[in-house]
Order: sequence, then C-alpha cells, then structure tokens
Amino acid sequence: MSFPKNFLWGGASAANQYEGGYNEGGKGLACADLISGGSHATSRKITAGIKEDLLYPSHEATDFYHHYKEDIALFAEAGFKAFRMSINWTRIFPNGNDQLPNEAGLQFYDNVFDECKKYGIEPIVTIAHFDVPAHLSEAFNGWASREVIDFYYHYAAVLFDRYQNKVKYWITFNEINTATLTIGNFLSLGLNVGESEFIHQPDHMQQRYQALHHQFVASAKVTALAHEKYPELQIGCMISYMPRYPYTCHPNDVLLAKQEENMHSKFCGDVQVTGKYPYYAKKYFADHGFDIVFAEDDQEILANGTVDYYTFSYYLTLCVSADDQVTKNGHSMIGGSGVNNPYLEQSEWNAMIDPVGLRIALNDIYDRYQLPLMIVENGIGVSEDVAADGKIHDAYRIDYLQKHIIEMDKAIEDGVDLIGYTIWSAVDIVSASTGEMKKRYGIIFVDKYDDGSGTLDRKKKDSFDWYQKVIENNGANL
Ligand code: BG6
Repeated sequence: MSFPKNFLWGGASAANQYEGGYNEGGKGLACADLISGGSHATSRKITAGIKEDLLYPSHEATDFYHHYKEDIALFAEAGFKAFRMSINWTRIFPNGNDQLPNEAGLQFYDNVFDECKKYGIEPIVTIAHFDVPAHLSEAFNGWASREVIDFYYHYAAVLFDRYQNKVKYWITFNEINTATLTIGNFLSLGLNVGESEFIHQPDHMQQRYQALHHQFVASAKVTALAHEKYPELQIGCMISYMPRYPYTCHPNDVLLAKQEENMHSKFCGDVQVTGKYPYYAKKYFADHGFDIVFAEDDQEILANGTVDYYTFSYYLTLCVSADDQVTKNGHSMIGGSGVNNPYLEQSEWNAMIDPVGLRIALNDIYDRYQLPLMIVENGIGVSEDVAADGKIHDAYRIDYLQKHIIEMDKAIEDGVDLIGYTIWSAVDIVSASTGEMKKRYGIIFVDKYDDGSGTLDRKKKDSFDWYQKVIENNGANL
C-alpha cells in the first residue's frame, strides 16, 4: 500500500456548475449566468442579457446554495477528507470591482466551511473557477484589461483575510490554460465577445495570451500576498493536463507531440511554478507574431509569486500526427492535430480513457517541478438513469475510477509526491462545455434534467459505496 496516511481523498465541484442561487443573497451576474444550455450536438449560446425563452443552467444548477448541509453530510458519510469547491466572485463582489464585499455572500461560505469543519473535511478552494463577473466583461473586456488584476487582488485579499483560519489550500485559477482553448474566451477570460456560440475553434489568440498574462500576474500577486501575510496558507496552480502521444515513432510525430504538450499542457505550470516564461513560449509567440506586453515589474512579480503546490485535472490523453493525411481522417476532441488512439477506448463524449496516461502525467509533472501534487479533477461523464430498483448502477464509473487510482498508487511507488485526489465530481452538476445535466459525473445523483425539471433530490450511486470503501482502506485492496 502506497497512499500516505493523511492522503486527501475527496470530491470536487465548481460554483458556476453547482451552486445555483444566481440572484439570491445579493449575488451579481457572472459571465457563466449568461450562457444557455446546450448539448453534445448543439453549442451553448452566449447572450447579451438574460433572455426569457432560454434556459441558463447555472441559475439553479444542482442548488448547493440550499443543499450544502445535506451534501456535506453525504461527503462525510463517504469518508471525504477534502472537498474542492470554488467561490463565486459575484457573491462576494456583485460587480467584481465594488469597494466593499457583500456580507451575505461571505457569510454563506463561512457556513459552508463551518459545516466542513464539523466533519473534519478540508476545503480546497478555487478563487476563480470559470468565473468572471459580467460587469467586468462588459465594462473592461474581462481579463484583456490590466485593471482586472487589481479587482481580483482585492477579492482574493478579502477571502484570505476572512477565511485564513478555515481554509488552508487555495487555487488561484481553475484550468488556467483553458484560456487559449475552445471555451476559454468568455468563460475563463470574460472577453466581451457579444452574442455568439460558446464553443468554437480558438480565435483572437494575441488577445487571449495577453489576458492570460494578466491572470499570471494576478495569481503571482495574490500568492506573494499570502506568503507574506498568511504563511500557513498553501497556494496552488491548476492546469488542465492532457498528455500528447505521438501517433507513430516517426520523429516528426514525436516532435509535434512535444511541442503541443509544451504549449497546451506545460506552459502555464512552467510560468506559475518557475516564475518566468519558458524558452519555447518565446519562440512560439515569435513564430505566431504575438506580442505579449509586460509591464515594468511583471518579471519580478512572476518570480516572487511562485506556487506552493501543483494541481491538475486529468480526464484523457491526446494523440497527434504530423501527417496531414492521418490527421484528416482522425478525430480530435479539441481540434488541432489530434487523432484517435487505437489502443484506447472512448467515453460517450469522445474522451480517450487512459489510466496509464495518468501515471505518465504524474511522473512527468513531478520530474519537472518536484512540488507536492494534487489531482483535483478526474472522472467520467455518462448519461444515466435511475434503474427499476430505484438505484443507479454505475459500474462504468467504478471501473474508470478504480483503474485511475491503481495508476496513482503506482506513481506514488515511483516516488511521486501525490498528496490528494478529488474526483470530478462529488455530486452531479452541470457540464461546463455542453451545459447538460445529462452528462453526469457525480457519485451522488441529483434529480435534475436538461429541461430544468427535477426535484433536486439526492441519491447515492453504487460508486458512492465503492468510493467509501476505497477511502476507508486508504486506497488498499482495490
Ligand atoms: C474541467 C473543468 O474542464 O472539466 C470543469 O474544470 C468541467 O469545470 C470538467 O466540468 C468536465 O468537463 P465538462 O465539459 O464535461 O463538464
């Protein structure tokens, strides 16, 4: 058995997909509140305001806002040691740049953290999980504006001050590298894109990389603040980590896989862990004609605000080919040069399922940074129903999680310092990309459907009982 005694087993969530109560307790509108529902086949829509005839999944989501006591009690029953969640920026600052925080919002999270403490559950809190106040998008073009750095800093400073004795583990931005992928422009960066499709091939890359630079600076500034004023706190980065395999051992495929993995999966972690832009990024920007504006102190700010631990999400791996013919006939979830990996199975939503890839990722990341690692998202989205016996028999989820946990175990034996694992997701929540309820990830089922109907009742799936045993045995006897 290799899992350390105090390993942080748990589950994860994100406010915009879980919390609901979008206009309660003084909360303001977030960009996520302006994205309609969609499906695997139909993209979600970004709207300029709330349209009466559209359904916005974030508005109620699966209503953690009113169910937090019940949900946290279920987490405790499962034996969770940790619960990853995010704070809704607009619950604390309704416009994003208000002078004074909204006390009702602060109190809500006090209640949540107190409830966690009651059961000895460690909260792991993301400051911004796909969460930009709508006002900052409209008035400042979101993260494209440097001024947003100060608003975020003020927001984070209020959180650290208020919750310093309740929350030890913080994450500055969820999947910060998503900024340059398909869904990043509005959801991660809050760019003022007007009414448009939510998912489309990445565009406006110069602006996106500049906005991402502002997020790096913001992250480094609040990390330095925590180090200086609250040295007990641990501040982490969070990367959507997708290893790239070469489709063949042809050197061109190998080179392409390395280049894509560098810019898509490694670049942001390199900046946040080492405090400077890596050499290959400079070449990439030069090749693409991007010019990232650094303010005078930015190099120093980045260098002084490096993270204490590294977290990442892991769902799948990608396979790339430098041969246009192969790529043309292939398929990729996220565009680019991806092709199907013939050795792997796909999920219902076309994710290549690859447990061994997780061991590879863990070794690669640890080799690069030598920091404690946490996997803060890992799971499978499946359409599922309650069976005739009233239960949810999700053997596929058990199989998926089990195989990934076995590889984590092996990575720890390899010598990787893995300190936590929060599955995606604890409770069924809205899918970020498609806006569906149908794509369920939880080990706890919620009676809520794509048309907005449902009682919001909770029900334990078979995977709940299975995961409870995994935690009870600290990952042994899988
Ligand atoms: C990650 C996000 O990209 O993957 C989550 O951090 C998201 O917010 C998860 O829900 C799964 O993706 P999706 O699109 O299936 O919900």
